[in-house]
Amino acid sequence: MKKTAVITGGAGFLGSHLADKLIREDCKVICIDNLITGNLDNIGHLFGNEDFSFIKHDITNFIHVMGPVDYILHFASPASPIDYLQLPIQTLKVGSLGTHKALGLG
Ligand SMILES: NC(=O)c1ccc[n+]([C@@H]2O[C@H](COP(=O)([O-])OP(=O)(O)OC[C@H]3O[C@@H](n4cnc5c(N)ncnc54)[C@H](O)[C@@H]3O)[C@@H](O)[C@H]2O)c1
Repeated sequence: MKKTAVITGGAGFLGSHLADKLIREDCKVICIDNLITGNLDNIGHLFGNEDFSFIKHDITNFIHVMGPVDYILHFASPASPIDYLQLPIQTLKVGSLGTHKALGLG
């Protein structure tokens, strides 16, 4: 049976490449992203792939996904020094509350 990975921040730079790699390695990927700094163009090629699903959601809020989850990869966070300065509260929240909610998916 295929393993399932949840990638938070999956529409971002690192998360989207990780999604590609895991799908190539025969995993199912659930991408959770609120698109605050990410872009659907990063994952556009994965829509329609039966092993990929996308949920637009802020991971600092509770979320439940159906079925067993084998891996949780928490890459959601504004990334660059510029983003940190423009989004300081969101950066702190996703690193603290977001980590807590992401771990709750396991
Ligand atoms: N890019 C690098 O070279 C690099 C190097 C070291 C560490 N990192 C770290 O890796 C992580 C990802 O970096 P990246 O370059 O992919 O950044 P990115 O901005 O491209 O991707 C981050 C993604 O997280 C999403 N996101 C942010 N807050 C969210 C929230 N509350 N709920 C759901 N989604 C949310 C954004 O919309 C975006 O798609 C960051 O923590 C960054 O600091 C990145």
